Amino acid sequence: MMETQKQPTLIFMFGATGDLARRKLYPAFYQLYKKNQDFAVIGLARRPHTDESYRDLINQTLPKSSEDRSSFLDRFYYLPLDIERPENFSTLKELSDRLDGQYGLQGNRIFYLSLAPRFFGLAAKHLRNAGLTETSGWKHVIIEKPFGHDFASAKKLNNDLLQVFDEKEIYRIDHYLGKEMIQNIESLRFANPIFESVWNHRYISNVQITLSETLGVGERASYYDQTGALLDMVQNHIMQMIALTAMEPPSRFETEETRYEKVKVIQSIRHASAENIFNQVVRGQYTGGVLADGTKVPAYRDEEKIDKNSNTETFVAARFFIDNYRWSGVPFYIRTGKRMSAKSTEIVIQFKDNPKNPYFYHLNDAAPNLLVVHVQPDEGLSLKLNVKQFNETGNTMPITMKFCNNCANEGNTPDAYERLLADCLKGDSTNFTRWDEVAYSWSLMDSIVAAWSEKQLPLDHYEAGSMGPASADQLLARDGFHWWPLTTTV
Ligand code: BG6
Repeated sequence: MMETQKQPTLIFMFGATGDLARRKLYPAFYQLYKKNQDFAVIGLARRPHTDESYRDLINQTLPKSSEDRSSFLDRFYYLPLDIERPENFSTLKELSDRLDGQYGLQGNRIFYLSLAPRFFGLAAKHLRNAGLTETSGWKHVIIEKPFGHDFASAKKLNNDLLQVFDEKEIYRIDHYLGKEMIQNIESLRFANPIFESVWNHRYISNVQITLSETLGVGERASYYDQTGALLDMVQNHIMQMIALTAMEPPSRFETEETRYEKVKVIQSIRHASAENIFNQVVRGQYTGGVLADGTKVPAYRDEEKIDKNSNTETFVAARFFIDNYRWSGVPFYIRTGKRMSAKSTEIVIQFKDNPKNPYFYHLNDAAPNLLVVHVQPDEGLSLKLNVKQFNETGNTMPITMKFCNNCANEGNTPDAYERLLADCLKGDSTNFTRWDEVAYSWSLMDSIVAAWSEKQLPLDHYEAGSMGPASADQLLARDGFHWWPLTTTV
């Protein structure tokens, strides 16, 4: 069926009382409602709630200034549901048929599975068996991460979902793909010939991607301790950022064509091997320290619900090579970690130095040109160039040209979840990950985990509030590079 924007939809919110729903999804639903999106929501979780107490819970998640709350909240219904009990799904079928009719939702359905991954397959099966996926409209299923914990488990999960949904109906969410500046990479590259013409190994010396956080593991300690930074952040967000930065222009700016180009990048990233793992990956874990705002924080191993002997990495840095013509020999350095000195996400493109010439001595010290995509907290771009100093020496000095999309650290750009939900409502899956992207990414992660297990790659410690272990600096120093200082403002 042809899908157009703003079709009425029934949303099944599994994990309705969870942290993600409260922090991100209800505020996003509210913004969509204000933009005239027509929907009703059934909240599903094990906890007992009535419609009223559920609406109270949602109300508390809305910004203080929200208007029209009651007409928004009236569209939320609650059903206590145990995924393991098929009879609960028959009750759900009755409720959904009633709401379909009451709101004229035309059988369009979104199943939002904000659940532990072990329940994805079971939820899909029970939805199908209860007749909930046989609908007169369209149906989409949104899957939260983690999509498995290695290639084999992801494949199994995918096969379970394919018993009930087609690939085109599966929306695997990676919320970084909903961020303004991540979506802007395409325009930056393909609308600016001055960049695209030099976007290759001839002119770019290296690329640096940082996703640093000041937060620790908080309420998600048990999940995190079994996952670690590599699988929590690199397998998904960082792989997507590399793919968008490195991909070829698609033949058309359409969903499958764009995803196809991203797949080719991820597929071309050289796998890790036991012989090169020491030069490719650094694992770190934070010790106690003081954050930039003066807060004293404990070591990872002293955090609540964390094993005292945990060897989980809270930081990872890596050097990747993309084995294709465009990127031959260009290192892509990445790093991400908890309890670092600042919350910042950015991509730095470092261009090659100008040729050195003894007669141009005053130009030989020029700093490299850098193009920086500032993803958060500020959203923008900056370009570092060199100009002549304002004196007689003729020497150069670096300057920065800036574009600032949102410089107040809290902008008007819609939250990533709001954008992605809106995309799913209108049937646009461009900013969701296709199975083959996920599959290639998992096999790359598997190669890293296998190599570091075989060689027992050490866990290097770093103080909370720092930028990671010294070994992450050595990773670049060996190639004659260094991490460019982080910018949190543009
Ligand atoms: C999630 C990770 O995917 O991304 C979290 O599971 C992390 O550990 C979060 O904190 C970071 O997202 P953002 O949007 O705050 O950069």
